[in-house]
Order: sequence, then C-alpha cells, then structure tokens
Amino acid sequence: MTTDTGQRRPSTAPIDDVSVRVRGLTKDFPLGGLFSRRSMRAVDNVDFDIPRGTIVALVGESGSGKSTVARALARLERPTAGSIVVGGRDVLKTEKSAASRRYRGTVQMVFQDPFGSLNPAHRVEHFLERPLRIHGKARSRQEVRRRSAELMRTVGLTEDMLDSYPHELSGGQRQRVSIARALAVDPEIILADEPTSMLDVSVRIGILNLMARLRDERGISMLFITHDLASARYVADTTLVMFAGALVEGGESLELMKNPSHPYTQLLLSAVPDPARTVRYDPHQRALLRRAVLAPTACPWQGPDCSATVPVRHTIGPDHWVRCHLYAPQVSAAANPLLTDSDAQPDLDSAPDLDVAPAPTRKATR
Ligand SMILES: Nc1ncnc2c1ncn2[C@@H]1O[C@H](COP(=O)(O)OP(=O)(O)OP(=O)(O)O)[C@@H](O)[C@H]1O
Ligand code: SF4
Ligand SMILES: [Mg+2]
Repeated sequence: MTTDTGQRRPSTAPIDDVSVRVRGLTKDFPLGGLFSRRSMRAVDNVDFDIPRGTIVALVGESGSGKSTVARALARLERPTAGSIVVGGRDVLKTEKSAASRRYRGTVQMVFQDPFGSLNPAHRVEHFLERPLRIHGKARSRQEVRRRSAELMRTVGLTEDMLDSYPHELSGGQRQRVSIARALAVDPEIILADEPTSMLDVSVRIGILNLMARLRDERGISMLFITHDLASARYVADTTLVMFAGALVEGGESLELMKNPSHPYTQLLLSAVPDPARTVRYDPHQRALLRRAVLAPTACPWQGPDCSATVPVRHTIGPDHWVRCHLYAPQVSAAANPLLTDSDAQPDLDSAPDLDVAPAPTRKATR
C-alpha cells in the first residue's frame, strides 16, 4: 500500500475556527545506536485540523504513529519536520526547545494508564493543587480546596475523594482525576491518548460522555486517540484513520463509518457491526483486506499507478476524503472493487466490546 506525501494539502478553514492546525508533521526515530544513520519514519507528512470545540478521533492499529502525533502536539517529542499552529502561532518556531507554561496552559494531555500516571504516594488533592498553583489559578489554601472541589464535581467525583490515595479509587475514578488534573489549567485543547482503553466497558462510556460534555459545555477541543472505532463513532465529530504513519482517510465520523473507503479503513471497520452501513464484506474480501495490511506492499487492489505515483487526497463526499488511487476522478465507481454491494454479513467474531448507545450531540465539522 502506498503512503502519501501530502502533495495536495487539505482545504484550509480560517485559522480562527481551528484550535490546532498540523501541516506536514513528520517524525523519524533514529535506529541502531549513537553513530548509526538509520532511522524509521513513525509519522509521515501528516496534515489535519482540530476545529474549535470539536473532538477529532485518530484511529489506527498499534504502531501506526498515533501516540507520536499526540506527543509531538504536547511538545514531548520534537518533530523532524512540519508545523503545529496553536492559537495562530507556529509553536515549533516560537518555542523551539520546549513548551512554555503558556503552551501547557493551553494544551494538556491525558494518558492511557490511569494507574501509572498518578504517583501513589500522593493524595488526589496534590495532583490538582500543583497545576492550580503553577498556572496561577488558585493561591490561598482555601482557594485551592474550593477550585479542587469544583474540578472533582466537574468530572463526576466528590470533594471527599480529594483526600484519597490513587489506590483507593477505581480505574474509572483515577482516569477522571487525570482529566480533572488536565482541566485545572483551563485548557483549550486536550490530547487524550487512549483514555478509555484500560477501563471496563461500563466505565468507558462514562468517560466518553464526560469528554462530550467538556466539548459541549466548555468548548474544549480534543484529539481522541483510540483503537476502538465504536468509541470514535460515539463521541468524535471527525475521525482520521492512520496507517503506517500516514493519514489515509478522514471525514465526519458517522459518514466515514457508514462508508469506509480506503482498504485499510474497510479492514478496521469490517469487524464493527453496524446495520446502517451500506457496504458489507464477505469473508474472502476480509481476508484480502487483512493481507493487505499485514503485507502493505501487497494491497490486493494495487493497480499500475500505485507503485509509481503517490496517492493524494480525493474528496468523496461533502465531508469525507480518502487517499487511494481507486478514488481518482478518472476511475469510475464501477471499476472500483472496493465499492461492493455484496449482501454477505460482516464477520462479527472480532466485534468490539462496546455496545453503542445513541451518540451525544455533534457539532458541524469540516
Ligand atoms: N522513542 C521512540 N524511539 C524509537 N521508535 C519509537 C519511539 N516511539 C515510538 N516509536 C516507534 O514509532 C512507531 C509509532 O509508535 P506510536 O507509539 O506512535 O504508535 P501507536 O499508533 O500509538 O501505537 P499503539 O496503538 O500501540 O499505542 C512504532 O513503530 C514505534 O515502535
Ligand atoms: S489501491 Fe489504494 S490503498 Fe491499494 S496500493 Fe493503490 S493507492 Fe494504495
Ligand atoms: Mg499509542
């Protein structure tokens, strides 16, 4: 499967309407020790926007580069190339070495592991007090306690839990504390790297609802990294699909899940039951898709163009694009083997464990 180089940039919304604009983001990691010149490209020329007050899901299988994107946005990793514009400023140019306090006051990260991200030696109040004081959100003892109690209520916990140690809380409660810690600085943007993947299904839905509430009531923009397409469909306004370091498809979440178009997205989605989806997959097609992903150079639909020319973004709906030559304007729908109307049912064996309830309200996205 050919990856893109982003030759054609995505359409450009006014910068005032976006919280984060990423262009050409690339990250190479060195391989083979200090004097080696070898490197591997973990993120390859990625372009996307996070429109204000929306949740953008980044989905893809393990090793596709999702966390590296989030870590670059959080300034925990220095990109090899590209730009990250937050609040109209290209932060890699204005804050070359590390994130400023101002940046950390705008962009916060929530990590996957609610067990590892809270030091067991401290009570919950400590995790909220630190950012409140460092970012000047509360000064006196009483103010810290009052703001901490507010934060606890915002994330659905009670004030008395401020005196608990992390081991006295459940996984879901710990993740809520992590979210409260991120909220302590009044951020505009939260980067949530698999915030629900270590939680039980019943607890997971509560965290997703909390994320939706923070978006809707506080206008917080989020990058939501997940393996779980059902979670992305449930809560994200826009979904981006990442494969081998590159974005291969993106669009309004419900539209993308209904009409997955890139071979890789089709593979990911073929495991998710959805009666509303028009495209269905027979087991043979699913096996071909899996082979395409496991041996990326052997995409079963590869045509003469694929090895010679890098695919660019093709718009396939009002809010939906894909990077694959099969969707080039000169290829007719009838000649595209991915547009099948087979009646065969999708393979439900590997269906995700989250039973999706009606989604919370969504904002219009681009
Ligand atoms: N610090 C590092 N040094 C070298 N390689 C790295 C480093 N961090 C990540 N990588 C590599 O970059 C690639 C992308 O990793 P990344 O953690 O971004 O993937 P991911 O999509 O978040 O995966 P997962 O879903 O398993 O968390 C992987 O091949 C990984 O091994
Ligand atoms: S058919 Fe699409 S996904 Fe497959 S190799 Fe060609 S461009 Fe890549
Ligand atoms: Mg990751």
